[in-house]
Amino acid sequence: MTGHWTHSPKPIVILAPMDGYTDRAFRRLVKRIEPRIVLFTEFLSATELAKKPKLADDWMDIETQDQPLVVQLYGKDASDFKVAARLAEDRGAAGIDLNMGCPARRIVAHQHGSALMKNIDLACELVAGVKSVVNIPVSVKTRLGWEHADDLVPFGLKLEAAGLDAMTVHGRTYAQKFSGNADWTEIYELKAALRIPVFGNGDVVDATSAQAMLGNLNGVMIGRAAVSDPYVLRAVAASLIDNIQLPQLQAIDQLGDWRYFATEMVRMGTPDAMARRFRKFLIHLVTLANRLDLRRDSTQVTSLNQILTIIDRIEESSAVSAPV
Ligand SMILES: Cc1cc2nc3c(=O)[nH]c(=O)nc-3n(C[C@H](O)[C@H](O)[C@H](O)COP(=O)(O)O)c2cc1C
Repeated sequence: MTGHWTHSPKPIVILAPMDGYTDRAFRRLVKRIEPRIVLFTEFLSATELAKKPKLADDWMDIETQDQPLVVQLYGKDASDFKVAARLAEDRGAAGIDLNMGCPARRIVAHQHGSALMKNIDLACELVAGVKSVVNIPVSVKTRLGWEHADDLVPFGLKLEAAGLDAMTVHGRTYAQKFSGNADWTEIYELKAALRIPVFGNGDVVDATSAQAMLGNLNGVMIGRAAVSDPYVLRAVAASLIDNIQLPQLQAIDQLGDWRYFATEMVRMGTPDAMARRFRKFLIHLVTLANRLDLRRDSTQVTSLNQILTIIDRIEESSAVSAPV
């Protein structure tokens, strides 16, 4: 089975789905840095895909180098999920993930995302429906619960009975959104109660926190820290899979990968729009390189050349300040 992600090296290290960030260019950067990472797409609307299957040409343009890639879908209509899941499998997705954790108002208002934690029957119907039409693993990404974590284990048991293959839990409730610290205690309890793999998510920032938080789980999923410094994923994989501690890679040693990333991003669409999209990543590089003087320029780039010039300036200044 193509890219069957459950066969990835253990414990599994996953790049979290992040709307607006984990597009094809960023995912390719991650694969270049650490090929053992399991990738997720950003959440894709099952209903839009069912209405306009042509969207899959753009949204699910999957090549071997992008594997294993799990396609994440959101929505609430079982027949739309089935159509979208088939499209994803036909295009080579390594798995289908159902979003049951997004807390955004516009998502929850439509009974999508986190709202499915309050509609367990529908959540199970969606899992069973997708399972009935694809041969690849079907997973769910969710949160601890709506306001508390009391229902997490019963929720997981029902999803497992509906045929679920794996579950990822972000250690915050819907009510918390992104406030406070992620609490993984209930995720460990969920793992103890289920037979399927369970992954923990929330506030893993480096190899040390990944080691501390893994507990009895099958792997960790990392989001924001990977955007701030994609090399965190390599350090976490080396630590969890190989038991090796890698030193943190300085920005100066990352520049070749950033040039590749910028080029891939600009190739993805209209060059000036893509260069604008790159700004938010460039700001992270500039911060990592401690070149705050380049921050303003980073927020104004409109071409690949301008991006590459900023990267060159980081390189030149590091060469000047390097010890002799
Ligand atoms: C900008 C942004 C976009 C996100 N988009 C998605 C998404 O499309 N699907 C999803 O399941 N979670 C999404 N999330 C949640 C992350 O996948 C993850 O659960 C959360 O950031 C906590 O993990 P972290 O502390 O490692 O960042 C998003 C988070 C952020 C910050």
